[in-house]
Amino acid sequence: MSQSQSYWIARPGTALHGELSIPGDKSISHRAVMFAALADGSSRIDGFLEGEDTRATARIFQQMGVRIETPDASSRIVHGVGIDGLQAPAEPLDCGNAGTGMRLLAGLLAAQRFDSTLVGDASLSKRPMRRVTEPLAQMGARIDTAAGGTPPLHIHGGQALQGIDYALPVASAQLKSALLLAGLYAQGWTQITEPHPTRDYTERMLRAFGVAIDFEPGKASLQGGQRLRATDVVVPADFSSAAFFIVAASIIPGSLLRLRKVGLNPRRTGLLAALRLMGADIVQLDAGEQGGEVVADLLVRHAPLHGAVIPEALVPDMIDEFPALFIAAAAARGQTVVSGAAELRVKESDRLAAMATGLRALGVRVDEVADGATIHGGPIGPGSIQAHGDHRIAMAFAIAGQLATGPVRVHDVDNVATSFPGFDALARGCGFGLECGA
Ligand code: S3P
Repeated sequence: MSQSQSYWIARPGTALHGELSIPGDKSISHRAVMFAALADGSSRIDGFLEGEDTRATARIFQQMGVRIETPDASSRIVHGVGIDGLQAPAEPLDCGNAGTGMRLLAGLLAAQRFDSTLVGDASLSKRPMRRVTEPLAQMGARIDTAAGGTPPLHIHGGQALQGIDYALPVASAQLKSALLLAGLYAQGWTQITEPHPTRDYTERMLRAFGVAIDFEPGKASLQGGQRLRATDVVVPADFSSAAFFIVAASIIPGSLLRLRKVGLNPRRTGLLAALRLMGADIVQLDAGEQGGEVVADLLVRHAPLHGAVIPEALVPDMIDEFPALFIAAAAARGQTVVSGAAELRVKESDRLAAMATGLRALGVRVDEVADGATIHGGPIGPGSIQAHGDHRIAMAFAIAGQLATGPVRVHDVDNVATSFPGFDALARGCGFGLECGA
């Protein structure tokens, strides 16, 4: 993997105070661009995440002939080309760091008349794609991967797809969404069953775009041959980005932070339940609705945390929040036990290994097992950390530095811009000690 030059030095700042607006949800922003591009008519997206991952997805649709305007930062007007209006791209399509982009596009592109190639950065190029290409092949798709089932994906167009009745082997919203998108083009019904319910943004948003889709937690089905109708989308603030400030305010003494209008889809907020089990003080205020999603302000006050056994049933609902949780666990009194979380090994990095190694470098005891870890809370020391190009590992260790007895140097932090552009400035603004270097 190419190593970026950028690094942070994180060290204790002040108690955290203020009211913060967190950037738009990454999962919803990806889907909004995709579905708007496939719709008949023009859709406006507000609150769009100006992150590298979601901008890569928008660029890919522009390469396939979709006109996208940027009337102002965090807004897009997407002039949809209709379900059958995408054009063959002249070049490979670069998903950057985005697993969501690549997996959903694999489903969509498998059903097009033309060939295409999906590529990604060093991290994405190591991630497993057979979980998507194998069920798509059962539907009639032809996709070649690199040896080992990793990107690039060479997708052969012009295949007639059949609907599929498929039980997902892993709880993955990306996989579910890829199959539903292919199912839109397939003959007959596509029915998906999940081992545990995952985020349902694809289902909700397809319905908002006029698609007849049946879904309930753990199940979704739709019939092929439907069209999408343009609609406007308001993207709520990303809970997974808010998570870093929720943990930071919980563990930094004297802190009181208000996070404005955070998306609280229940399939995303497992971290709130986990932190409350550990003694956190988090209050929801002014609950309302934005773009069909529940949003509320979160008031987070410092509280002494204690270790807990994280229920396995919570894992899919907090799948992106384990780097932040590991820091809360390091700051807590006693042991925190994570299990049933083997999926963390195939995220933007092997997050179990990256967090265990990083925390140990700061003097925190972590016992790592195949599907989890036990974190022994205790003093956090100074040290040097590799983020492995993983945005969430970098942000997690920026928090660790706030409690450390000396500076924490976090290497390879450029990819924070994939999901949370401006994280460091927002963090400094509310009290973090965080310097950037290159
Ligand atoms: C996502 C689903 C999750 C999550 C990722 C975004 C999505 O991945 O980790 O950050 O937008 O559907 P899996 O569905 O593979 O668990």
